[in-house]
Amino acid sequence: MSRTTMRDVAREAGVSIATVSRVVNGVDAVAESTRRRVLEAIRRLNYSPNLVAKSLVHRGTRNVALFVPDIMNPFFPAIARGVADAVASEGYTVVLCNTDDSTEPGPHFERLLRGNFVDGAILCGTAWDAAPLSELIPADLPVVVMDRRVPGLRADSVEIDNRLGGLMATRHLLDVGCRRILHLGGPVGVSTAEGRLAGYLEALCSGAADERDAAEADSDLITRGPFRAESGYSRTRAALESGLSFDGIFAANDLLALGALQALRQFGRRVPEDVAVIGFDDIYMAALALPPLSTVAQPTYRLGTIAGRMLMDRLDRSASPAQPPAHPQPEPKRVVLEPSLRIRESTRRERVQGSEEE
Ligand code: RIB
Repeated sequence: MSRTTMRDVAREAGVSIATVSRVVNGVDAVAESTRRRVLEAIRRLNYSPNLVAKSLVHRGTRNVALFVPDIMNPFFPAIARGVADAVASEGYTVVLCNTDDSTEPGPHFERLLRGNFVDGAILCGTAWDAAPLSELIPADLPVVVMDRRVPGLRADSVEIDNRLGGLMATRHLLDVGCRRILHLGGPVGVSTAEGRLAGYLEALCSGAADERDAAEADSDLITRGPFRAESGYSRTRAALESGLSFDGIFAANDLLALGALQALRQFGRRVPEDVAVIGFDDIYMAALALPPLSTVAQPTYRLGTIAGRMLMDRLDRSASPAQPPAHPQPEPKRVVLEPSLRIRESTRRERVQGSEEE
């Protein structure tokens, strides 16, 4: 018997060979109904040119994609470890994709998700919009959103309470006597950055009466930019060069705080005596910094394991393209975890009550 060819599949599905090829390679967008017709023809004819086509028919690559914005930020490998452990127990492997802080999912996103290289995906994007994302994600491909929210996207999600984290960090700086707190914020529109800024503002507006009177929520003290060390360095340096007066820094992540420490050192400012500094995340480098960096710790590994388990749960319930769902898909779940304070030398000016000391 001769081997089934792409031409046979095209004839069976009533489409062109080019369309079959597009479905197999996942290069161009193909209408969902056409894609399903082609997959059905592939299954009927048992067409199996390679592993990718096999996975198209059986919907089982045993790979899941994890999209992160910055693979160089140690926060994300820590999360990836949690995801990998959670999915490995079910026989899955993680395909790690770095979006490099791109504000759109990008062509490799579409190729990976529509090309049937993975069975599901965990997304941590940079202010990605729900509408284009929903267009790109195949209807039967389970997706979980992690760390950064995508309002309007129907998907399970797991994140921390970023507003609470911003509140804790700023209140801690107020507690150790800071009254002009520079905020090194993250990019505009990214939910984690917006939440942390909201917490900062809330702490300045709702502190004890003596703090409220003395502390200032001055727009000059708020800067926004990438979550990167170079940005923390250049923004702190610019603030120092401009003569802006500040006695505390709340950086929206630890990389920004590490950059700030370097600029303060170069300008001869003592930490914490002249400027107390607190970051966010508790990456492993925070404890190694000079001086060791106070921070708002995220339960990073747990974020990853929860995201991984959420995805495994959806995969268990999802059906093959040709069959009705084995179990109906429940409504999307949203899990919000709490951050915690880690106080180290960079803010240790005096005894602080009610804080978790390391
Ligand atoms: O992408 C940078 C930041 O976003 C991380 O450092 C972490 O705080 C995450 O929420």
